[in-house]
Amino acid sequence: MLTVAYASLFYLATAVLVGGLAFRVWEYATTPAPLKIPTTPAPTTRDGVALRLGREVVLFESLFKANKWIWLFGWVFHAALVVVLLRHLRYFTQPVWEWVVLIQPFGVYAGFAMVAGLLGLWARRLLVPRIRYISAPSDHLMLAVLVGIGASGLLMKYVARTDIVALKSFFLGLMTVNWQPMPPDPVLLVHLGLVAALMIVFPFSKLLHAPGLFFSPTRNQVDNPRERRHLANWARGLEAGRS
Ligand code: HEM
Repeated sequence: MLTVAYASLFYLATAVLVGGLAFRVWEYATTPAPLKIPTTPAPTTRDGVALRLGREVVLFESLFKANKWIWLFGWVFHAALVVVLLRHLRYFTQPVWEWVVLIQPFGVYAGFAMVAGLLGLWARRLLVPRIRYISAPSDHLMLAVLVGIGASGLLMKYVARTDIVALKSFFLGLMTVNWQPMPPDPVLLVHLGLVAALMIVFPFSKLLHAPGLFFSPTRNQVDNPRERRHLANWARGLEAGRS
């Protein structure tokens, strides 16, 4: 019963996440950007733009310029999240890749760093009056879900251990459509329930800033309006009609 429930939940969550994200990216990619509006100083070549976007993704450059505290907590959370997710690859691959084995110890520290970063971001929403005023329930909900996932993960690691071997067979079974029983440990059920919830809300949530960054005209445009005339597609049609 539990196995069927969680297996169905993860198939549903994966379908919503993949389908929803594909739809959003398609929407972003086909949204007109009629104006030339890169935030200056901006790169004047395409390579420069690639480098600028790379710095945004890896270092959160513009956030650093805007606010050092949010940058610190936000960067620590995201960097730690990447390491935690890479560490998790061991549950989905057989045999486990060598480099995934090597990063296992770092993954555990990253778990603590991830939760610390999230708590810093949450404290800001609760303690800074201006930020508290503009914080919507969904802002708190996202933080709560992520803290819940991190805290239940650390609990499993240090307090209420689960059967990792059985859990891995369950996930490998899901991927090969050869279902295996799900370990019935309460903390694991919370961890995975929250993960599935996060996957389902992702395409409808503020977490879309991740793919959205690449489609932001202020960041992805080349500063060359003097060299090349910028024409939106609809304007191109109008011009063609006029001549
Ligand atoms: C289906 C996906 C997932 C599975 C099967 C899973 C499973 C697990 C398991 C079994 C542990 C305990 C590790 C141990 O005892 O050594 C754990 C820990 C943890 N999980 Fe997950 N998890 C999943 C997704 C996630 C996601 C999406 C996040 C972050 C948003 C996350 C964050 C953590 C953290 C921070 C820890 C504690 C540190 C560590 O052991 O790596 N998990 N997870």
